[in-house]
Amino acid sequence: MDGTGWDLAAVRARFPALAATDPHGRPVVHADAPGGTQAVDVAIDAVAEVLRTGTANQHGVFPLSQRTDALVAQVRSQVAAFLGGAPEGVVFGPNMTTLTLHLAEALEPRVRPGDNVVCTQLDHDANVAPWLQLAARVGAEVRWVPLDPATGRLRTAHLDEVVDARTRLLAFPGASNALGTLVDPAPFVAAARAVGAVTVMDAVHAAPHITIDHRALGVDVVACSPYKFFGPHAGILVADPELLAALSPRKLRPAPDHGPERWQTGTASFEAIAGTGAAIAYLTQVGMDTVAAYEAALTARFLDGLATRGHVTLHGPPTGVERTPTFAVTVDGRAPQAVARQLAGEGINAWAGHYYALEPMRALGLLERGGAVRIGFVHYHGPDDVDRVLAALDTAAG
Ligand SMILES: Cc1ncc(COP(=O)(O)O)c(C=O)c1O
Repeated sequence: MDGTGWDLAAVRARFPALAATDPHGRPVVHADAPGGTQAVDVAIDAVAEVLRTGTANQHGVFPLSQRTDALVAQVRSQVAAFLGGAPEGVVFGPNMTTLTLHLAEALEPRVRPGDNVVCTQLDHDANVAPWLQLAARVGAEVRWVPLDPATGRLRTAHLDEVVDARTRLLAFPGASNALGTLVDPAPFVAAARAVGAVTVMDAVHAAPHITIDHRALGVDVVACSPYKFFGPHAGILVADPELLAALSPRKLRPAPDHGPERWQTGTASFEAIAGTGAAIAYLTQVGMDTVAAYEAALTARFLDGLATRGHVTLHGPPTGVERTPTFAVTVDGRAPQAVARQLAGEGINAWAGHYYALEPMRALGLLERGGAVRIGFVHYHGPDDVDRVLAALDTAAG
């Protein structure tokens, strides 16, 4: 326990995968948290419990089926509380990408030739490509909110120029999985409301780091993925129930005609839903404010370390303000893949490339140069992890 009351050892003990060591016996630093976090013990147990004690489809007359009904209803309420939505607006799916593609298809009848959709240069492709494809299908225009390469932030003042009476949708991120930038939804919501457009926020990277409040923010649709916040591989979408009811998603004939299940294709992963509920219970207990305050210290340590390393370039927000502890870096004279390989040799898992964040990488001029190395921490990392990454970046620089 340090002076702040944060017991890192106790936190880490909740994540069995963090006990992994590299071939030299050093603890592995899983600095690829933006690609997927390790699962917390209660989520692992909840997944196993469903499979161990029996599974059954929903809406049957026998007890095991009714248990599934109760589980799904309970986790729907947990997700609603976690993301600030209504339980009737919670849709479960295999991942955020599939849910967003499905949503884009359902929104298609609302977009006419000559209308426009607004995307950002900061989003992961899961919140870009579905809208590009929708626009191409109907003959709509795609407009962009540009990224300022110097700050790693969106130029939201540009919204005035791109949003007009024919804007049907604004898609934006809660946070960038590439640069760690946190994004204020308020200007997007205000611009959308002025013209009656739908807002879609990709909260995948934000969810493990900050509180998300769908209704308080006034965002129509929020999508995220439990495997990025210490749960199992799955996706969730929270939307205004009235919006969900007003759209007609593709579905099979016998599938429910009402409520969020109308949006769920086929059988849900009930074990993943159980694990999602457990991950939310864990995070709620820790508290997102506590998480954010602790992560700010990790961010400060990493940024302080970079400040003395002229051979490492940080791409994205240069300070600890309004960012997650996710950092895109390049090392002078070294290809990102080579640096990531070197880090792997030091027992550090880090991704190199574009991480599906095509637009930000293109805007930064990195796409053609192999992207960048992404270092991503969460609340289960400690100062030692930060220091090991910094030291390994020195080694990589040669
Ligand atoms: C910001 C962001 N959005 C969307 C996605 C896609 O999520 P999923 O894997 O659940 O489809 C990711 C995954 O890396 C992401 O980081």
